[in-house]
Amino acid sequence: MSPSPAPPASSPSGAASDFAGRTVLITGGASGIGYETAGLLAARGAALVLADMNERALRKAAAGLRNSGHAVTAVRANVTEESDVIRLMAAAFKDAAPDGLVNCAGIYPVTPLLELSAEEWTRVIATNLSGPFLVTREFARRLIDSRQPGQVVNISSTASRLARPGIAHYGSSKAGLNQLTAILAIELAPHDIRVNAVLPGVIGTEAVLAATRTPAGAAENEAKLKKIPQGRLGAPRDIAEMVAFLLSPASGYCTGGLFTVDGGFTLGIPAY
Ligand code: NAI
Repeated sequence: MSPSPAPPASSPSGAASDFAGRTVLITGGASGIGYETAGLLAARGAALVLADMNERALRKAAAGLRNSGHAVTAVRANVTEESDVIRLMAAAFKDAAPDGLVNCAGIYPVTPLLELSAEEWTRVIATNLSGPFLVTREFARRLIDSRQPGQVVNISSTASRLARPGIAHYGSSKAGLNQLTAILAIELAPHDIRVNAVLPGVIGTEAVLAATRTPAGAAENEAKLKKIPQGRLGAPRDIAEMVAFLLSPASGYCTGGLFTVDGGFTLGIPAY
């Protein structure tokens, strides 16, 4: 795993106290979009519970945020394991009682159908779809027991809507996540728990940027940029800002929404 970027020092488009007194649980918080979101929310005053199965990356991420003065509880957990999720939730609610959840843990291997093993199919569905189901169920149970409102943000993908070769498992898992978002939004609305999803396009996380440093990767990146009307990859910060909005009272009348953040990538054909 590539090193995570430093947490953002300031947040020009949100007040430093927007999340003061609030705690947000982020799965997959040790790297990429999850880590960037953690940094942005912490800079706006949130306490964090970071969950990740990569213990080394998790320790490093938590240390980076704590060094910047932020309150972080770090819990190693695999979101596909029910017992891990129950243990995670017990730890998360012990001191902090989060009212925000970001389901960001995810994997995105690319394998054409004829080479796709049942094991890989199951692993992708388990991580990207069953994980958010388990984590959201346990989170909602605790909030409802204590009669507290809450917000859930699922990190889906434009691949849930835009078909391309090699992502039968990934695209299906994220399409399932969109529908899970809608159904849970309906079920949880009477409990004052909102559930929304963000659909990122191509986001320049460290891992994605590293792949562009080979000649083949650079050529693929050029081709991708031609398909994005705004002419650039998304930054992890672009996603973090949308997550912050969906966790905040500013989005109080939004639930079951699928919010695309892709520079126009899924609009159509930018040029012939
Ligand atoms: P990343 O690989 O940098 O971060 C994902 C984190 O999830 C890692 O720290 C990993 O250890 C953790 N994780 C994976 N499986 C886990 C499990 N079973 N239990 C607990 N933790 C687990 O990836 P990135 O790019 O930041 O992606 C985050 C989310 O955003 C994923 O759901 C991905 O599908 C989605 N996304 C990413 C896009 C991109 O261009 N980077 C585009 C669209 C969606």
